[in-house]
Amino acid sequence: MFGVGALLLKSRLPATSFLRPVVVVLSSPAVPRQARVNMAEEAKKQAAYTAVDNHVQNNQVVGVGSGSTIVYAVHRLAERVREEKLNITCVPTSFQARQLIVLHGLMLSDLDRHPELDVAIDGADEVDADLTLIKGGGGCLTQEKIVASCARHFVVIADYRKDSKALGQQWKKGIPVEVVPMAHVPVSRKIVQLFGGEVNLRMGVAKAGPVVTDNSNFILDWKFERIHCWKDVNVAIKMIPGVVETGLFVGMAERAYFGMEDGRVLLRDAPVN
Ligand code: A5P
Repeated sequence: MFGVGALLLKSRLPATSFLRPVVVVLSSPAVPRQARVNMAEEAKKQAAYTAVDNHVQNNQVVGVGSGSTIVYAVHRLAERVREEKLNITCVPTSFQARQLIVLHGLMLSDLDRHPELDVAIDGADEVDADLTLIKGGGGCLTQEKIVASCARHFVVIADYRKDSKALGQQWKKGIPVEVVPMAHVPVSRKIVQLFGGEVNLRMGVAKAGPVVTDNSNFILDWKFERIHCWKDVNVAIKMIPGVVETGLFVGMAERAYFGMEDGRVLLRDAPVN
């Protein structure tokens, strides 16, 4: 099994794993690119497997996040369902999550039938010391936030590259904001007027024109210039007409699992207010 290191502040969740301190080994720039990629993938897997093992029990409704780390969580979920004959119902946070659930033969549901979830597990683009998150690098922030808000426990899984003291240290692409298409120019201008920085309309890679979300909207990426009170910023941006949701998840995550470069998993709980 995995060694689980802890930066444990007061927990709202049961500590179900043996905890011991972790020594973080920073990666050497001399490590070849492919080795770094493999290391990061292994770290994602360790974080995802540990979270699923610690937080999923029989007869639960589980929110399934989006991105590349969640793929490992769904593998493990399917494995446990098969081996332990668990009765698990899954609520997806995106088209991708829905596909993963279906492909793994897991039971698919939605918020109409299951508006209350036991736990939601999801990745993040960056996690700060307070467990404030940037999400939406994959454009799924709105459904991810809705599903997380319906869960009794919201658990984040990530590799070591997502762990930072303050937002912006690791994730340089800015905070995603989902907007109604016709409002993207006024919303961009308003964000800059309020908070400075730079806002870009996210463009497709293998498609001409902007990225269109699962909800048929556009995504803005706001590159901020300094640390803000993210709770206030989140509220202020949400109040701009045309904004659907922001990728700032403030006070939502209870626990984060970080897969580390040395194979261990670092665990951090949100501060108790
Ligand atoms: C999807 O829109 C995002 O919020 C993802 O949860 C986040 O980008 C993490 O993705 P990875 O697991 O691929 O890093």
